Parts: sequence; structure tokens; C-alpha cells
Amino acid sequence: MSAPASEREATGVFSPGRARILARTLRVDRWWLSPLLTTLGLATFIVYATVRAFVRSAYWVEEYHYLTPFYSPCLSESCVPGSSHFGTPFPELPMWIPLNFLILPLLLGFRVTCYYYRKAYYRSIWLSPPACAVAEPHGRYTGETRLPLIIQNAHRYFFYAAVIISLINTYDAILAFHGEGGGFGFGLGNVILVVNVTLLWAYTLSCHSCRHVTGGRLKHFSAHPVRYWIWTQVSKLNTRHMQFAWITLGTLMLTDFYVMLVASNTISDLRFVG
Ligand code: FES
Repeated sequence: MSAPASEREATGVFSPGRARILARTLRVDRWWLSPLLTTLGLATFIVYATVRAFVRSAYWVEEYHYLTPFYSPCLSESCVPGSSHFGTPFPELPMWIPLNFLILPLLLGFRVTCYYYRKAYYRSIWLSPPACAVAEPHGRYTGETRLPLIIQNAHRYFFYAAVIISLINTYDAILAFHGEGGGFGFGLGNVILVVNVTLLWAYTLSCHSCRHVTGGRLKHFSAHPVRYWIWTQVSKLNTRHMQFAWITLGTLMLTDFYVMLVASNTISDLRFVG
């Protein structure tokens, strides 16, 4: 694990003026544990989401109108009847195209360019650097100044898309208050869908771009009391952004898993009304 000093003469901890230490790190604690857990957490979500995106089954519960967020919005004629809340403007899709193909790139773009996830995968996967006082294995650092990482600067546009997607998920959650025979209904699935969408809003609104949209570029907060108040609330949420980033990965999987179990008749939804 020690660094080849010859390749690194001019950068990072091997720059002239820094202490001449050839070991990659002098840390003796388990500094590798955090990057390892982060990698495992991200990999779990990626594998689960990829499998679910392609299986094309058990994503809609007709009796209660539960739709998993992984298939929303479902816009093609391949979608099961009832699951297309916004119509079917697209024809049947081949199996290799996920049914929510339209928003998948936007969702991925939002998460991948998120400031917190950048920190997570730069450290854990790219090892740049993997931990404090642990030298990175790369010889050069170019930052986010050229392709592909310059795309990270598009995060603010993915934020606008994420707001629209959160509105769609909210609409799905409202439509899910549906009883078996029609009319109003309420079950455990509704609780899960509402908690999920609430946390998705918390993650979206705690975004650093949202903070800039609400209060950025203001020279005098006193002249913009409403924006200042909104910025203050967003800033409070923003302090929890990392937590929301992780919690929403978990709640997305949990929500999808619950809908899958009910839709496949593996379990029955616990009904409170209707
Ligand atoms: Fe994480 Fe914008 S910074 S979603």
C-alpha cells in the first residue's frame, strides 16, 4: 500500500515542502472501514435498483393503487393497466428498456452529482483520498474541470428535475388512498408511501442547489425576508443532507419491496380503512 514516490514527486502529500514520508499512511486505526461500508451501501442500492428496474413485475397493486416509485411514471403500453397515471404516450418497450426510462437518467444524474454522494464515492471508490491522512493512489488531480467530471456542475439542473419527480411521487402517494371497492382506503402501504415521499422531499429540499436557489446571490437578506426565511429553513434541512441521502436509499428500497410483496400476493396489505 505504500506509494511509489517516484511517480508522485510533485503532487499532494508528496509535494516539495511536505514531510518526506514514503508510507501511504501512518494511521493504525481502521480508517478503511468507513469507505468499505460506504461502498457496500451504494453497491447494495445499485444492484437492487437495477434488478428491480428490469424485472417488470409486481410494481402495481390494482386493488389499492400502490405504485412503486421505481416504476413511476409508467408511460408506455408495456405498463400494466392502471399503473400509468399520466397516460401511455410511448409504445411497447423491449425488455432491455426500463419502464421508467424517462426519469431514470434524471434520478441517477441527481444522485450521482449530489455533493454528498460525490464525497462518498470520490473517497470510497475513487480513493481520492480514502480518509484523512491517507494518501490517494492517483498521481494527478484535475478536479471537476473537464469531462467526465465537469458534468458534476449540472447538478442544479438535475435538482429542478428532481423537484418534478418528487411532485409525481407525491401524486402517486395521494392516488394510493384507494379502497378495494373504490372510494377512500388507507393501509400500511399508504403509510410507507407517504413516509417515503416525505423523506424524498426532505432529501430534495436539503440539496445544496436548493439552498442556492432560495437564498443565493442575495446581497441583503433584510430586503428579501421571505426568501431569507425559506433559505433559513432549507439551511436547517441541509445540515442533515447526508442522513437524508442514506435514509432515502433505504426507504426507496423498502417501499419498492413492500409494494412488490403485496403486488405478488406474498403478503396482504394491512388495511385500516377500505
Ligand atoms: Fe445532494 Fe443536491 S447536494 S442532492
